[in-house]
Amino acid sequence: MNHPQTRYRHLALVTLAALFTACGGKIESTPADAGASSCTGSEATTERLFLQQVSSTRAIVKWRGPADTLCFGTAQAALGQQVVAATTETGHKEAVLTGLSPDTQYFYSVGGAPAAPTGQYFSTAPVTGELPADGNTHIWIIGDSGTVGSGLPPEAPNVRDGFLAYNAANGNENLDLFLMLGDNAYLEGTDKQYQEAVFDVYPDLLNKVALWPTIGNHEMGSFGISTSADINSYTTNDPDETATYMPYLDIFTLPTQGEAGGVASGTEQYYSFDHGNIHIVCLDSQVAIRDDTNREAMKSWLVQDLSANTADWTIVIYHHPPYTKGSHDSDDPRDDLGGIDQPIFDIREQFIPLFEQHGVDIAYAGHSHSYERSWYLNGHYGLSTTFDAATMSEVDGLGQSLNGQDGQIYQQISPGSGVDDKVVYTVAGSSGYLSHMKGVHPANAASLESLGSVVVDVNATTLTARFINQAGTVGDWFRITR
Ligand SMILES: [Fe+2]
Ligand SMILES: [Fe+2]
Repeated sequence: MNHPQTRYRHLALVTLAALFTACGGKIESTPADAGASSCTGSEATTERLFLQQVSSTRAIVKWRGPADTLCFGTAQAALGQQVVAATTETGHKEAVLTGLSPDTQYFYSVGGAPAAPTGQYFSTAPVTGELPADGNTHIWIIGDSGTVGSGLPPEAPNVRDGFLAYNAANGNENLDLFLMLGDNAYLEGTDKQYQEAVFDVYPDLLNKVALWPTIGNHEMGSFGISTSADINSYTTNDPDETATYMPYLDIFTLPTQGEAGGVASGTEQYYSFDHGNIHIVCLDSQVAIRDDTNREAMKSWLVQDLSANTADWTIVIYHHPPYTKGSHDSDDPRDDLGGIDQPIFDIREQFIPLFEQHGVDIAYAGHSHSYERSWYLNGHYGLSTTFDAATMSEVDGLGQSLNGQDGQIYQQISPGSGVDDKVVYTVAGSSGYLSHMKGVHPANAASLESLGSVVVDVNATTLTARFINQAGTVGDWFRITR
């Protein structure tokens, strides 16, 4: 596959890897066999601390701060294994923990103390294809959350607290996955904006669960209106930010080689991974999608990835929503505002058919700052005026679209077609601030001008998705059974 826009990044990573190898360390370091005696440091302060690529056997702990070592173990007060961190782009430190046991809780200390601070732990994924011991995978999804510090309404802490209140009242389960739908830091996705809008808002979650993000238009600088397909054309007016490519790609360490499952994409811009019985795909609807060659490469990778996927459930995330009447309107002309929303058409016309052909169950976007959730759809690739509920959604005997609730729960194998060819599409872009909605898209079952986020709970036979508003109340839900 040809990924011209990622070539520079590959070279940079190869060079970095060579440098670390030459210095006697390596990025893919294995835990030192030094035993408990090496964990005699003290807990270090960090500017940011977060988890990446947590799989069933491996995890990356990433931070920025003076410490260069990490200790970890399965007992909070007796950390026995030490890892030396590599220094990566923009001063981040990365400790790669390997040889981990599946579905197991690990405590850790940045700085290599013998005991972990309270609340500093994570759990590995179950063996691929299997359920976690508690039977449920608990996923939090937020979109367009990044307005803290930007001058736009800073509602993300309220949305976070609404989720925490809901969670506390409903079993208080630790998150297994944390997905971010783009526009994670306004207005230009600079490193400083990421600090204020991400690392300072969710520190008590980011140290416990891997964050899996996607790229929004605001990640590409230029006040969010870039239409470039080249990550090296990133520009910002922030004098503190000197990057000429997206800070997002320095901040996150995303799988390029199928490190956590899935088919290797060869780029951090889009990727996939497995978590137990769930397969998750992240597409790049902002940068890679805007170039014919890159878009075709992403599509052929997607087909390969989904063709090899045998998970019970499949979730896709990307930024640009195919069906919306929120702050963006999926019926607007594709060349409006210089074509910034062309990806809405690309997703709808070119990617949705692939989702349907390859068993995707639910798909999440942001971009519109509202909550909009579709019926159980198949075959709707045009403007909203072409939507025909009877032929493009799962319907009852009277031809009415089923809403996915109570007596109308969706079935993964649609009774109508006998195959897994229907998808629920959700816009969850109201986790940072709210915009006025322009109307109701007929493909959507729920359209809420409400701040909030989404919680998805998945077991062997059911997938339940809930919209949680800033008061911690369920504003919409649906369920799919298999
Ligand atoms: Fe946005
Ligand atoms: Fe956006």
